[in-house]
Amino acid sequence: MEIVTKSEELKKMVGKHKEEGLTIGFVPTMGALHQGHLSLINKAATCTDIVVVSIFVNPNQFNNPDDLKNYPRTIDEDTLLLNSTACNILYHPSVNQVYPNKDTRTFDFGMLDKVMEGEFRPGHFNGVAQVVSRFFDLVQPDKAFFGEKDFQQLAIIKAMTKMLNYPVEIIAGEIIREKDGLALSSRNARLNYEQRKAAPLISKVLMESKPLMNTKNIKEVVNFVVENINKSALLNVEYFNIVDGDTLQTLDKWSQSDYIVGCIAVFADKVRLIDNLIYKKL
Ligand code: PAJ
Repeated sequence: MEIVTKSEELKKMVGKHKEEGLTIGFVPTMGALHQGHLSLINKAATCTDIVVVSIFVNPNQFNNPDDLKNYPRTIDEDTLLLNSTACNILYHPSVNQVYPNKDTRTFDFGMLDKVMEGEFRPGHFNGVAQVVSRFFDLVQPDKAFFGEKDFQQLAIIKAMTKMLNYPVEIIAGEIIREKDGLALSSRNARLNYEQRKAAPLISKVLMESKPLMNTKNIKEVVNFVVENINKSALLNVEYFNIVDGDTLQTLDKWSQSDYIVGCIAVFADKVRLIDNLIYKKL
């Protein structure tokens, strides 16, 4: 595995592989790697020749300075771990390498970024779009891989790719979970013992709510999920929306869409956890 910190060097290296006719798969991350990230790397290796992984904690996408400061940075462990995967190139740049000039672009995602994460983390998705488009310019991937865990992010990336006409295929990876159901996340490391014990309630209640769609309306299912998670003194639901999987707009009726997803954000004290569940996909 090659480790690259300079953007120009990365561009050259990737350009050489492309000249050789090799395809490039790209997995952007913010590090503190876990099996969720590794599953995307494995997927990339099955359908592209050269796998590029980036580790960069992108300041532009943090609306909360404390969250940015406390975001886990474990580059030594990450590098060791990546060495045992199919990753060919690790790109680990400084902020100046990614943003030699301040990125002032603002993207118009219509209603996609007005809801859920977009509502509670203003500016977050604009920062995500900035960094991913910057990476696409440098890496020029044929395919890029994103987890369904960040369901809204995936929709934003697809929209950004289309908007800026990138010839990149966006491929989704399923949510990887702990044995007890908790969706893997770099932020899980910040949970204390009691919070970690409480956190699997999120996915448990989501799963339990799925069959209720046969007997209850959307509002009742939303109440079921919120009430049952909030029963834990350690968990506090920020939002739970049952939405159309493409437009991300809240639905009133199960019959309104063929692709229905429930997206949730929950605080365990200051640690914010997100998860989602597909109710219906034809
Ligand atoms: P990060 O949170 O490090 O996630 C990197 C990728 O791993 C994202 O596509 C995310 O959806 C995926 N991922 C995280 N947890 C997962 C899980 N449990 N199962 C499957 N996939 C999972 O998302 C970001 O970084 C950043 O916003 C980024 C796209 C890198 C831009 O800065």
